Formats: sequence, structure tokens, C-alpha cells
Amino acid sequence: MEKELMKIKDEVATSISSISDKKELIELKLQILGKSGKLTNLLKGMRDVPAEDRPRVGALVNEVRNFIENAISEKEKYFADIELQNKLNNEKVDITLPSKGIKTGALHPVSSMIDRFVDICVNLGFSVVEGPEIESDYYNFEAVNTPKSHPARDMQDSFYFTDNILLRTQTTAVQARAMQEMKPPFKIIVPGKTYRNDSDATHSPMFNQLEGLVVDENVSMADLKNLLSVMMKRLFGEDTKIRFRPSYFPFTEPSIEVDVSCPQCHGEGCKLCKGSGYLELLGAGVVNPKVLDFNGINSKKYKGFAFGFGIDRASMLFTGNTDMRSLFKNDIRFLKQSR
Ligand code: DAH
Repeated sequence: MEKELMKIKDEVATSISSISDKKELIELKLQILGKSGKLTNLLKGMRDVPAEDRPRVGALVNEVRNFIENAISEKEKYFADIELQNKLNNEKVDITLPSKGIKTGALHPVSSMIDRFVDICVNLGFSVVEGPEIESDYYNFEAVNTPKSHPARDMQDSFYFTDNILLRTQTTAVQARAMQEMKPPFKIIVPGKTYRNDSDATHSPMFNQLEGLVVDENVSMADLKNLLSVMMKRLFGEDTKIRFRPSYFPFTEPSIEVDVSCPQCHGEGCKLCKGSGYLELLGAGVVNPKVLDFNGINSKKYKGFAFGFGIDRASMLFTGNTDMRSLFKNDIRFLKQSR
């Protein structure tokens, strides 16, 4: 028995050094210490050892078993260390690699133009007011001095739901609502969607306007011109040139149209401005006293001036885009270019 024990011990001592992987080690462990392993089997013979030899044999059994168990667990630890080392090496993060980049969203060019212009107006003391997109003929036309038979209605090919309800053709409708609700003096802007039956490179059936209205005791055309110059310079840059042309709107008298020097060619003439060097961006004027009186503001005491700004056209200027409809197609390639 003692010989057998020593043989097993020697066998383990030699074979363990040649073991090269975890699987072989598990096999060796089974062969020696498993249920029907060599050592386990041998120990079954303990009961045949004469009583006087048992303490000695017993001590040897313990020594051999400890030796084997230690040898195996040392080897297990050795393999575990290698495994850990491999893992550390393979999973190492190379912090010098360039990143894949983080994709973030961005505001739509129209929204960012609205935000910019609203910020400029709010800085100049205007409050933001909104109104309904489905509007009555009364607010959209009648209350801003455009009665049913008025020829100016022809300029705004309108989407009617019924004889009296339509998609508003102009944010000017909110001027009438504000005059009826607010006590002068006031300065408001109305950003919002407007609708007309028009569709070509410079017209979209849905488009965005920003209306401005100032009502106070001593305001004049001079204030309007100065304010618009300040606004356009803040929006398009200090070197922007502004041109005023006489025009006609039923709700203003006198009326003007305001052109801004083309930011693409700085007035030289290019495709965007169709060679003219200027782009028409605003209608404006001194509020027609009829409009003030119609909406409950005494035109003897108060004067007003107003403007209507084409947001989409301005955003086209900014991005150099020549087709307004591309603003609303949601083609991600276009939107990425026009940030
Ligand atoms: N409502 C006009 C349009 O859509 C634009 C406009 C012109 C607005 C003159 C105004 C204004 O407030 O004073 O064509």
C-alpha cells in the first residue's frame, strides 16, 4: 500500500509538469481523486491494513493526498492566472484610437431662423403672441381692411373650408386679434405657419411668417425703417444693406416692401437673388387708421406700424438654397448640409 501511494505521488509529480491545459488537469484530477480515481480506490484498501500499521500508513495517506491536492490547485491557479492575463491583454482598450463620433440632432433650418429672429425681437422688447392656423375670413381679411370684394384678396390664393373658414393666409390675422384683446401701447411679434395655394421654387403651400406690430402714441414710418434696419443687420450681419420700396397693402398706409442685400453675393447679383443683388423679405407699413378703429383702438390717439417677414425665404438666404420646397421634404442629406 505504501509503495502504491508513493507510486501515485510520483505519477502526479511527473505528469502535472507536462500538463498544458485546464482540460488535461481536470482529467488528471478525476483519474486520481475522482469517485473511482486511483487514490480513492487505493484508500478503500485501508481496512485491510493491519491495525499497528494504520497510523503510519494513515499519515502517509494524508501527506500524499495533501501533496496531490496542492499540486493540482497550484496548477489550477497557474491556468487561472494565464487566463486572466490573456483576458486583460485581449480586452485592452486602445485610448489612442479615434472615436466613432456622437451623432446629435440639430434644429431644422426654418426653426433655427425662427429662433434667431424671435430672439432679436424679444431683445428689442417685443412679446410673442400666437393665433390659430384655421382662421375666420373675418380676422384673416375683413378686420384688416380687406372686405369680401377687395381686389387684394386675389394676391392670396386661399384654402377655404367653408365660405367663412380658411387656413390663414397671413399672420396679419393675429394683428386684429391682438388689437381687440390688448391695451396699447404694445409691441408684439407673431411667428407662425401660413397657407396659400402656390407651389414653385420660391413658394410652398405651407410657409412661415413672422408678423410684427407696434401700437403706441407717437410712432411713425421713421421708427419702422430704423427698427427694420437694426433687425436685418442683427440677423444677416452689420454690412447688410436695406432697400425700401413703395408698395400697397390694405392694412397699412403708406406701405413699403423691404429688400435685403443678398448675403450670398453681397449685392453683386447671383442665382439666388436672380442677378438683382437684393431679396425681398418683408412687407411693412404704417398701420392703416381704419384697421385701428375697426378693432377698437382710437386712431386719433394711437398710431401703429407693422411688418410681415418671410421666414422660409430668409432661411434660404442663410443656407444658399434656391428651392423653398426642399425645406419641407425632410431629406436628411439636405438638412445636414443646411445646418
Ligand atoms: N401680410 C402680408 C403678406 O402676407 C405681409 C405684410 C405686409 C404684413 C405689410 C404686415 C405689413 O404686417 O404691414 O403678404
